[in-house]
Amino acid sequence: MKRRLAGWCAAAFLVAAQCCAAADLRGYWIFTPSAEFPEFTTLTVEGQTGSIRSLWYGDLPMLNLHADGERLIFQIDNGNPRLEKHDLTLTPTAAGLVLTGQLWHTHLNVTARRAERKEVESRAVPTYPLPRLRDLPGNGLARTPPMGWNSWNRFAEHIDEKTVREVADTLVSSGLRDAGYVYVNIDDGWQGLRDATGKLQPNSRFPDMKRLADYLHSRGLELGIYSSPGPKSCAGYLGSYGHVTQDAQTWADWGIDYLKYDLCSGEGFYHTSETVRATYQQMGAALQATGRPIVYSLCEYGRFDVGTWGRKVGGNLWRTTRDISDNYSSMAKIGFDQTAPPENAGPGGWNDPDMLEIGNGGMTADEYRTHMSLWSLLSAPLLLGNDIRSIAPETLAIVANAEVIAIDQDPLGRQARMARRVGETEIWIKPLADGSSAVGVFNRSTAPAQLSVSWSELGLDAQPRVRDLWKHADLQSAGGSMTADMPAHGVVLVKVSPAAH
Ligand code: GLA
Repeated sequence: MKRRLAGWCAAAFLVAAQCCAAADLRGYWIFTPSAEFPEFTTLTVEGQTGSIRSLWYGDLPMLNLHADGERLIFQIDNGNPRLEKHDLTLTPTAAGLVLTGQLWHTHLNVTARRAERKEVESRAVPTYPLPRLRDLPGNGLARTPPMGWNSWNRFAEHIDEKTVREVADTLVSSGLRDAGYVYVNIDDGWQGLRDATGKLQPNSRFPDMKRLADYLHSRGLELGIYSSPGPKSCAGYLGSYGHVTQDAQTWADWGIDYLKYDLCSGEGFYHTSETVRATYQQMGAALQATGRPIVYSLCEYGRFDVGTWGRKVGGNLWRTTRDISDNYSSMAKIGFDQTAPPENAGPGGWNDPDMLEIGNGGMTADEYRTHMSLWSLLSAPLLLGNDIRSIAPETLAIVANAEVIAIDQDPLGRQARMARRVGETEIWIKPLADGSSAVGVFNRSTAPAQLSVSWSELGLDAQPRVRDLWKHADLQSAGGSMTADMPAHGVVLVKVSPAAH
């Protein structure tokens, strides 16, 4: 009894101490402007609760707010399920209230000064109503998975008009355009500031977007662009928050043909299934209202079962995974292990396991053939992510393989399913419009492997015609089976057709 009482007294003392230390920091604070992610602006502490405001995420509650001596500790949740919620600390110093801690990869160290309530209120981030959920009509585009090139994987934000023009020229001169790669998509990094009317301008690396679109169109290509429903894109450029209709019209006026709309800082505002869907619907409707045919690519990393509603918000493709990196394990994880439900994909709307890394140097030629084969079997968008201006002949042979592209672009639009796994080998089958099937036999191990494949066991014609799509050769499949010899991380990709009667 005595010990319990002593414990209770100690606890009571602690609560009192916490209460008084926290009380000292109550009130309103304004951060010294800092370009550092996530650009905190203000802080409001009201006893046990508080909120912190940033240019990326607007107002977020300070979670688990508590005192530790004279400091305050809290966490924030930006709506991203992968965010590790590290403790953030507010320490009173002579210079002001110093915020330290880690958010994503940023080590924070920013200082706030005391402020009046009205000063903090004047920095409020406006909120905008979202539309009621409804089903938008289809836009009739992307009857087969979009094909083209995107700047991000190779150039990140270091992209400019000159490079885009040179890429466009190379698409034409290399034959890639005629192989189907027609979209030239500028990813994050083109955005400048808004003018006095709120119209978003490109930055100095893109002096004239309309001129660029005209140039691409004159070469038989289409121009794609990138934005976010949040105030900031993932690389910290301006997003479309509060300017959805205006931005859609700006892009239509420039002659844009494709939009990738990336959730990014929007996850701080929209982190429920309904709000994420509504914000994508809002842009989908705005694009349709322009009257210009614009392919609509949703990028919210597969959250909230996007494949079940992507079409309903006007989407033509939707990312189903995290970002790809140029290595086998990333590609294999995304391609083999995170396959989105095949029933969601088909003409007009596609699961998007992210862009291609072929030719960027981080994988072997066999691994890149696996990448190309798997994406084609999955009916994935084929968006080149390399610097095609210096494309190696071996890379060109992979991405321009017309027989493999035909699997991706098959008009039936069915996504492959894994039919069988034997050890570290996997067999994937995609039914094709002409009654034949594409069969990929993959070796996921680091040593060469061999697998005997019996057609009838896979439910295919027992004595089919078989064509190897990488060797460009018809195979003799004696005895109703094939022996697939695969290099490390390699593939045998064949088209299996019923024997001619
Ligand atoms: C996110 C997307 C990437 C790319 C970058 C740009 O990470 O998933 O594909 O668009 O943003 O900042």
